[in-house]
Parts: sequence; C-alpha cells; structure tokens
Amino acid sequence: MLIRRPAAILPSEITTAKMYRERRRFMGLAGSLALAGTLPAGLARAATQPLGSITKSPLSTTESQTSYKAVTTYNNFYELGTDKEDPAQNTHRLKPAPWTVRVEGLVNKPRTFGIDELLKLAPLEERIYRMRCVEGWSMVIPWVGIPLTSLLRLVDPQGSARYVEFISHYDKTTMTRGVLDWPYNEALRLDEARHPLTLLALGLYGEVLPIQNGAPLRLVVPWKYGFKSGKSIVAIRLTEKQPVTAWMKAGPSEYGFYSNVNPEVDHPRWSQATERRIGEFSKRKTLMFNGYADQVASLYTGMDLRRNF
Ligand code: MTE
Repeated sequence: MLIRRPAAILPSEITTAKMYRERRRFMGLAGSLALAGTLPAGLARAATQPLGSITKSPLSTTESQTSYKAVTTYNNFYELGTDKEDPAQNTHRLKPAPWTVRVEGLVNKPRTFGIDELLKLAPLEERIYRMRCVEGWSMVIPWVGIPLTSLLRLVDPQGSARYVEFISHYDKTTMTRGVLDWPYNEALRLDEARHPLTLLALGLYGEVLPIQNGAPLRLVVPWKYGFKSGKSIVAIRLTEKQPVTAWMKAGPSEYGFYSNVNPEVDHPRWSQATERRIGEFSKRKTLMFNGYADQVASLYTGMDLRRNF
C-alpha cells in the first residue's frame, strides 16, 4: 500500500462459475487426499469448509459479487508478503487453529473467546458488502460473520471507553519483517465499532475464511478504506485515548484515523474520486462513505472530514 500501484485483474483472468465449481470439487478431493496423508499440508489448508446455517442480511448490497478467485488471490496482507498474489501463496506462514481472541482494557467483563464460542454468539449472517481499497480498486464480497456489537455487549464496556483497538497476530519467525511496526493494529471509535454494519467476519462465500483473507477472524468496516479491516485478530482492546494505528505511524500525512471512503478528499498519491471494480474495465465513481452514507453519515455530524481524514 505504501509503494505499489495495483496491478489490473482482467475479466478474462477471473474464474467462470463452471471453473469455480470444478475447482471446489478438486479442493474437496484435495482435502480428502491430504487427510489420507497423500498431499502436502498447504493443499489441505486450501480445502474449503462450510460454516453451517447462515441467515441472509437485509444490509447486503444486490450488486454483482466479485469472483471467489479474485477475492482469494488478490489480497493485501503484508504479514504474508507485499505483492497482491503473495498472501495466497504464503498461507503456510499462519496457522489459524487453535486460536483465541482476548477482549480486554476498559471492560467490566474481560474475556477470551475461542472460535467455536464466537460462532455461537449470534446467528451467522451473510453480508454482501462493497469494499473499497485506498489504492483505487474495489470488490463486492459475501462475508459471513456476526455483528461486532454482539461481542462488545458481552464484555460490558466501561463508561470511560471511547475507542476499540484491533490487534492482529504477528510471528516474526514466519512473517514479513520491516515495512510496518508490527503487530498490525487498527482502531475505531466505540460508536463506529457498535454500528450495525461493523462485522466480525469468520467466513466468505459461505465457507470458513481463507487464510489470505484474515483467518480465522477479521474485522469488516464497509464504509472505510480496506486497511481499517484488520485481519487475523488476536486482541480487541477498549481504550480511552485514540490508539495510533500501524498505518498512521507509517505515514501520518497519508493515513488518518478515520479513513472514511470520501471521493472529495484525495490521498496524496491516489485520487479517491473514482475506482476500478475488480473484474470491470471502466472506472466507476466512488460514493461518499462507499455508498453507506444513509446509515453512517450521522456518526460524523459537525466534523470537518477534510481535517479528520
Ligand atoms: N490486516 C493485516 N493484519 N495486515 C494487512 O496487511 N491489509 C489491509 C486489510 N487488513 C492488512 C490487513 C488492507 S490494505 C486491505 S485493502 C484489506 O485488508 C484487504 O482485505 P482482502 O485481502 O480480504 O481483500
């Protein structure tokens, strides 16, 4: 994100539905062979796993979804490499199980959750969201998850809590060194974190989250640039002071705390007025708050969004 311009993925490179089904058949087979000990572990991890019963959310967009292939091979996950195709190729660098997430800081009931507990906290929902990267590309992704507010309610935030910080897993023995001040951290204001659109994602396309997309759990905040949606989260911390995030540290003039999608405020190196939806040729206009203004604009009433970028 700091240095690279996005490479284009052409529609011709994107899997057709038939190829996608073939691939999934292959993955199922790969999974069984790996269980039988005849395939390397990397291929076993790529086998897809369904998540069980999922309700459809009325908060979903009806726009066409980006192909599974593009969603899972064109990624930003710097811990697994800085090129878009690196994360899908370096999945062996992160083990998504066993996994726990600590919820701590200014809460009356701090607690550590296992993934099975999270799956039972609230009905799993499919949320089809537009996602906009600060680099100028966008996707439409069918996430599966639970509203973050369901988890926050259980830990009972204290009156002085104003921000929520999300800390990603980092292992210096297997992951990228340098580039950012690790671990990757992001943060929201408490009211943003409690907003019904803010999702803790545990899957996509009806299946468990692939490693390159932030397994086993990640944040999804669809009205903000993609980098606010931290991946592979191990800790959620409620604070009184505004946390300094990894990207704010790396480039304070380029990455602000709010990072709301705003076509009127350009990034110093990238115009934010238009975007290229992966899989489409022509550019489309970027919408204020990524098209979620009706739901979220009131969170920022009276704020100068040029200063609070
Ligand atoms: N989370 C971690 N831990 N590390 C990262 O490098 N990249 C961010 C965000 N979350 C990143 C991260 C950026 S820049 C984007 S655009 C989105 O993840 C990309 O998510 P996707 O690969 O699932 O589309």
